[in-house]
Amino acid sequence: VKASSGSVTWQSPSNIALVKYWGKYGEQMPKNPSVSFTLNNCHTVTTLNYEPVENPFAKTTFEIFLDGNPAPEFREKIEGFFTRIEQYLPFIKNYKFSIETSNSFPHSSGIASSASGMSALALCLMTIEKGLQPDMADDFFKKKASFLARLGSGSASRSIGGPLIVWGTHAEIEGSSQLYGTPYPFEIHEVFKEYQDTILLVDKGEKQVSSTVGHGLMKNHAYAEARFTQANDNLEALKGIFKTGDLDAFIELVESEALTLHAMMMTSQPYFILMKPNTLEIINKIWEYRAQSGSKVSFTLDAGANVHVLYPKSEKENVLAFIAGELSQYCKDQEFIEDFAGKGAVQL
Ligand code: PMV
Repeated sequence: VKASSGSVTWQSPSNIALVKYWGKYGEQMPKNPSVSFTLNNCHTVTTLNYEPVENPFAKTTFEIFLDGNPAPEFREKIEGFFTRIEQYLPFIKNYKFSIETSNSFPHSSGIASSASGMSALALCLMTIEKGLQPDMADDFFKKKASFLARLGSGSASRSIGGPLIVWGTHAEIEGSSQLYGTPYPFEIHEVFKEYQDTILLVDKGEKQVSSTVGHGLMKNHAYAEARFTQANDNLEALKGIFKTGDLDAFIELVESEALTLHAMMMTSQPYFILMKPNTLEIINKIWEYRAQSGSKVSFTLDAGANVHVLYPKSEKENVLAFIAGELSQYCKDQEFIEDFAGKGAVQL
């Protein structure tokens, strides 16, 4: 190992799943394949400062700052991450790290920072590794960055590239892997270019159910097997939809995925309701608006109360007016974030 100190910075986005990952096994392997739009504006910027240590400690040593302030609340998660990845990046024990991170979206907005944060950190570590192995191929760099990000948070594996990333093996999608995310390999209709996602912040509090607990709920779940089969079928159906640009079929599939994710939580033991009354108000308003206007606006949900409003770029002006006029009243502090499907992480 060539001892040198330095600093590396990556900006990495969050992503929103269309076919949801819910249920895992082994070392962060998904029970079903998923696909997501990589976001553009919701991102984390992480600077990793590294310095060689003379006598490596038993554990990788680091300190962590959020917006310039010590952030002990992330310590346990990052420590677990380093422990998991040590076998894949043996050099990390020979360094002392200082992690400086900040998010473009408000802290505790209910937007998961784990996908953007873990992918940004994984990319910083890969840049250090590439420094030690300068002939590393670009494709290997991206796959391993995604592989490492996955070990931090499953969905983080889908934030390296964009705008559509598949994670999890699917028989009909060549190159798909349980171990890392790969760009969706087939034709994508023009209508999905820079597909819009406006995130309505219904509830900004801490997550009621951590995703670790959530994935655990799929073990011994009465409907688990049917759900995993359905996710595979939906991913296959999306192939035709992405190709033809059939937005009616897109809407039906994506909204069903969102509601199924929540149905899984409502029917697990213990059970949870992660939607809030305002989540349902928004969904009903979207359905009303669509019926009245012929708009192709739709929604999806994460494991929380916020609503992601999805629509083609050509409808931007109208849908934003609808959101500002009729939906923002259901958001905490009337707040929403405009975003769209972007290209993935960039080194700064
Ligand atoms: O990456 P995790 O373990 O936080 O799980 C994320 C799960 C969902 O956001 C609900 C769905 C998904 O595919 O991103």
